Amino acid sequence: MIGVVESVSALRFLLDCGVDEVIGEEPTDWSALSPRPRAQAAVASPDPVRPPDAASGPKPAPRQNVPPPARPADPVPLGAVEAGQSARMAASAAKTLDELKEALAAFDGCALKKTATNLVFGTGHRSARIMLVGEAPGENEDRQGLPFVGPAGQLLDRMLGAIGLDRHADDPAKAVYITNMLPWRPPGNRSPTDSEIAACLPFMVRHIELLAPDFLIFAGGISAKAMLNRTEGITRLRGRWFDYGSADLKKTVAAMPMLHPAYLLRSPDAKREAWKDLLALKLRLDGVH
Ligand code: URA
Repeated sequence: MIGVVESVSALRFLLDCGVDEVIGEEPTDWSALSPRPRAQAAVASPDPVRPPDAASGPKPAPRQNVPPPARPADPVPLGAVEAGQSARMAASAAKTLDELKEALAAFDGCALKKTATNLVFGTGHRSARIMLVGEAPGENEDRQGLPFVGPAGQLLDRMLGAIGLDRHADDPAKAVYITNMLPWRPPGNRSPTDSEIAACLPFMVRHIELLAPDFLIFAGGISAKAMLNRTEGITRLRGRWFDYGSADLKKTVAAMPMLHPAYLLRSPDAKREAWKDLLALKLRLDGVH
């Protein structure tokens, strides 16, 4: 029998580990469920760079004959394969950004939805020349339902302002549309898992197709690696231009990874690199390169 003191210290330990959400009334014995196949590893793709194939998924592995649990606390989240298939179908059916937002809100293939307070879709001019894709909402974003509204977002606004850009601008040439790779906050701001990223990827592919910007900026390694289908870290990818494409995008989009503003808050010395990248973007916008 566990006493109150032990229970309190166990809860404190979990809080210290970043566990700050309860997702079910009763525990689920995950080991009793059928093992799910892992998400397909990203494959090299021809130029222009495309995210891992958003049109076909890996074949489901045969299920093992394990009896289901008597009564799971909540519906069992979709496995990686089912989630990918369901995401691709829902995303490709969306013909407008509003339909895409509705499709995301109805999507049950990413367990982050259960613990998040709000869906964080995107903000800014829908004809903006620039689309910036961050990682995932944090606490402030989750509460307000808007991307980049916390300290990292304030730094991002100052960075964009330094080259004459503004997320609130009415002029598409100066406007930046801002969104995140994942629309739901990972509990305790932990890094998203590969399968969470894979489940949400078809929605980001479609988000870019529907917005069709001239320039894409990937803030941080999560969006840069997933959308450019690369394995290098952000310090190797930042400042380089890539040609981004996808099946239903009618043009090739110039894409550049940048250091994430939250990283710059922790490592102010790296702002030099970020400034170089911003200047490179400014030159492109001005048609100099
Ligand atoms: N970090 C992100 O990547 N996105 C946000 O919206 C906030 C912080």
